[in-house]
Amino acid sequence: HEGEAKRTDLMTITRFVLNEQSKYPESRGDFTILLNHIVLGCKYVCSAVNKAGLAKLLGLAGETNVQGEEQKKLDVLSNEVFVNALISSGRTCLLVSEELEEAVFVKPKQRGKYIVVFDPLDGSSNIECGVSIGTIFGIYAAKDKDKITLDDVLQPGNRMLAAGYCMYGSSCMFVISTGHGVNGFTLDPSLGEFILTHPNIKIPKKGNIYSVNEGNAKNWEKPITEYVDNCKFPQDGSSPKSLRYVGSMVADIHRTLLYGGIFMYPADKKSPDGKLRLLYEVFPMSYLMEQAGGQAFTGKGRALDLVPKKIHERSPVILGSYDDVEHVKAFYAASK
Ligand code: AHG
Ligand code: MN
Ligand code: MN
Ligand code: MN
Repeated sequence: HEGEAKRTDLMTITRFVLNEQSKYPESRGDFTILLNHIVLGCKYVCSAVNKAGLAKLLGLAGETNVQGEEQKKLDVLSNEVFVNALISSGRTCLLVSEELEEAVFVKPKQRGKYIVVFDPLDGSSNIECGVSIGTIFGIYAAKDKDKITLDDVLQPGNRMLAAGYCMYGSSCMFVISTGHGVNGFTLDPSLGEFILTHPNIKIPKKGNIYSVNEGNAKNWEKPITEYVDNCKFPQDGSSPKSLRYVGSMVADIHRTLLYGGIFMYPADKKSPDGKLRLLYEVFPMSYLMEQAGGQAFTGKGRALDLVPKKIHERSPVILGSYDDVEHVKAFYAASK
């Protein structure tokens, strides 16, 4: 009978966050309003991704972004959608997007206390072939929204108030943590609402999948080479792990959260900082992993403790099931 009740008493994301926020007597609904605007952006991008072929949104926009990559039209569109949604929420003061070289300082009249860092469209190399892509975001609170500087966003990931992603896959899924565990919502297209389908996600303590771009193996550091060798030829007689690598961080992390295992974009000789961006890729995903009971490691320490110096800074990251990350740490410790 519980199923019957759920079908007529839907836990939408707004209702869920309102419930969570009501635990704080000082809460005035600002966070719920901000989140509603993020959700609106995700629905818009989801719809654009689904119509991409039809709307001729595919292909290169002929611009190059701050990372020196050619931007796809959907990246440009998604960035605009989120910038507009976030500013118009009236709840943000500072925005950092992968697609914008400079941080956006919101005009005083439209300011609120939240700082949002985001990757509007992650996995852009997968757009054209219909593979899952996503949006990643992290939220900080400003100390004083009237005296905002870039330093307000150059904060370690452990100061984030919330982080999440939306995956535009076989279904559209929104996964978020506000610091009390991780919850997943699936878009019901007939209602246009995200419904709680994956309450209190916990990553399995140990997994049997590893996920890494092995094309970079030539330049890897020794602990990563040794760990990946061990995934294929385990020394303790256990079964080898399976390899899965989508090439969209959102999809690779989503699978890792649900099935367990490890995802790595490690440092290598050519890229000592790895590839992934600290503020809007590494931090939000590390936050979610820890909240789900996993770990996130840089090869040196806890990912969330890094203090960014630049908004588009990169960092190596190794994250996933608690035991699997411990295993990688052991290879690093042994190589010292
Ligand atoms: P983006 O599309 O936002 O630039 O991010 C791409 C990232 C990430 O999604 C993925 O994990 C990684 O690039 C894949 O990189 P490789 O192609 O080097 O494996
Ligand atoms: Mn990019
Ligand atoms: Mn990305
Ligand atoms: Mn991107």
